[in-house]
Amino acid sequence: MKITVIGAGNVGATVAQLLANQELASEIIIVDVLEGIPEGKALDMYESMPIMGSDSKIFGTNSYEMTADSDIVIQTAGLARKPGMTRDDLLVKNAEIVSSCISNAFKYSPNAYYIIVSNPLDVMTFLAAKITNLPRHKVIGMAGILDTARYRSFISMELNVAMQDIQGMILGGHGDTMVPLPRFTTVAGIPLTDLLPKEKIDAICTRAANGGGEIVKYLKTGSAYYAPAAAAVQMVESIVRDQKRILPCSVMLEGEYGVSDVVVGVPVKLGKGGMEEILELKLNDEEMASFNNSVGHVRETIDEAKKLLNM
Ligand code: 2OP
Repeated sequence: MKITVIGAGNVGATVAQLLANQELASEIIIVDVLEGIPEGKALDMYESMPIMGSDSKIFGTNSYEMTADSDIVIQTAGLARKPGMTRDDLLVKNAEIVSSCISNAFKYSPNAYYIIVSNPLDVMTFLAAKITNLPRHKVIGMAGILDTARYRSFISMELNVAMQDIQGMILGGHGDTMVPLPRFTTVAGIPLTDLLPKEKIDAICTRAANGGGEIVKYLKTGSAYYAPAAAAVQMVESIVRDQKRILPCSVMLEGEYGVSDVVVGVPVKLGKGGMEEILELKLNDEEMASFNNSVGHVRETIDEAKKLLNM
């Protein structure tokens, strides 16, 4: 396995380190426009490998040539939010950055799977799909795993139970309109709705939907990176090890949930074939209305991006 991480910022560097520590690739390339940063961070990580007991080799570069023939490319480069900004406020700048990064990477790795992490997530994944013209099972956005990880953490804090016993699902766009689904959330198989009153569940859903903003408010100069990086690496692991995990990811819908030509978060199966299957949950009217509202919002932002890029 050769994996390229585009962006040597907090998310990119943390992704690379987790990949290397878990030895998910024999070769990891970190590419970034900043001079010296990708090389320095990569060498520092390389030098930690004897301690970690991993034989992953990590290299940093400013040139896409070194990324050639990657099996997986992870797009993390882009501006992060500052306090008070929504993810959509990043659209203009990040559309430009992501288009340029993905075009460059695709020249050298036309057969790779592309995992998109830059925001606004669903729109950037849509752009990557259109730019590469790859089939949808090869272009997958990271959002739902992060959002459900936050949701699961808050449930664990509330109930004081092990994280690993909590299963949850969040659909829709990676933004304020995301759709947490308490009806599809269990603790060791017990419906969450039997364990907590509605007001508590509503508060947890709201906190999860605003989870990214909560971190930005603390950090002030950037956004979350430990949980986003862990989420992206879980996607890689499921693909590399053909685990067939069922995880919420952002993918191009072609009729599922009654939606077409929009990238949005739904439960998918990830394995050696990339996004191998989309699972269609039986949503009730209220859940479907929230999902459609979220899809509508993402579609509007995609239309804006298309105009910006003359697509
Ligand atoms: C988040 O939710 C950065 O969108 C990312 O923290």
